[in-house]
Amino acid sequence: EGALHGPSIMPGGSDEIKKEILPVLQNIAAHLDDGTPCCSWIGPDGSGHFVKTVHNGIEYGDMQLIAEAYSLLNVLQKGDHEATAQTFESWNKGVLDSYLIGITAPILRYKDTDGKSLIDKIADRAGQKGTGKWSIEAAINSGTTLSVTAESVFARLLSNRTTERNKAHRLYPETDPAPIFELSVDDIHHALYASKIIAYTQGLDLLRNMSEKHNWQLNLADIATIWRKGCIIQSRFLYEIAQAYKPTNEYENLLFTPYFREKIILCLPSWRKVVQTAIAAGIAIPGTASALAWFDGFRCKKSSANLIQAQRDYFGAHLYERIDAPAGTFFHTDWNRHGDGTTSGNYSL
Ligand code: 3PG
Repeated sequence: EGALHGPSIMPGGSDEIKKEILPVLQNIAAHLDDGTPCCSWIGPDGSGHFVKTVHNGIEYGDMQLIAEAYSLLNVLQKGDHEATAQTFESWNKGVLDSYLIGITAPILRYKDTDGKSLIDKIADRAGQKGTGKWSIEAAINSGTTLSVTAESVFARLLSNRTTERNKAHRLYPETDPAPIFELSVDDIHHALYASKIIAYTQGLDLLRNMSEKHNWQLNLADIATIWRKGCIIQSRFLYEIAQAYKPTNEYENLLFTPYFREKIILCLPSWRKVVQTAIAAGIAIPGTASALAWFDGFRCKKSSANLIQAQRDYFGAHLYERIDAPAGTFFHTDWNRHGDGTTSGNYSL
């Protein structure tokens, strides 16, 4: 497809090289309907390769979230692949309109030589070539949370432990899928959409952090635009991301943009209901659930990290900051002496 219709290309390197090869790459790239090439100069060094890696990390999240929605629909629609295919088809006409949602309907409809659905004969062991793992490594090394991609990689790894999974199923067989029938197709749609927003928020955050660290000056609106065609994650969603960034042309956390804030608030009740219900039914939806957990962790005013700091100080004298002292002033307590054992000053770093 890429060779015939043009790929999305993410080149980076020195300015001298840019002058020579950018016009060539833009010519062979996919083009949007308005003629914009899906190729722009990403930045210096290996920034182009890095952006392509994070593209794939986001792709892992997209695929895992779609697979989780499929697993819920499969119960709700009682294994009727045609009904599920029709659901994906209708989703592909709305905010989830994308290549990956689009290919899911024909996959579900495909019949093997015996006339039976091929999807039921495909072993549930997912492969991977490493770009999801590289994204997570980069996220951890740069202090970014990329939990949806991480859960997607872990889910693929877990899927391959077939022998142990079979044994675990024999030991813990009880799962009553009945709670899933309390969900509507729209609930599942909204949970998928909200989780997708989180996956992209995290991926773009990783790009922003690496851009600042290496002074790449990545233009995230441009990157969202060149992902709109010629690549696996192409979607209407990326147009909305580019539009959300356009007013200021500055990076902002996606959740702070008016457009995506409104969408998250609309989806939130269904998102919570889907996670609660899947847990009650014993159906693993790690991407969707971790996206919601990340969102709740991100938006909460007071986390439980105060206890972690207290424990670190208790067992290792690792020091802590106080809410009634300037940030950057560190304290240690002799936890065996109560109350007035607190000391300060000597430990300021
Ligand atoms: C791709 O084909 O987009 C990437 O190579 C991802 O492949 P993987 O899922 O096998 O890592």
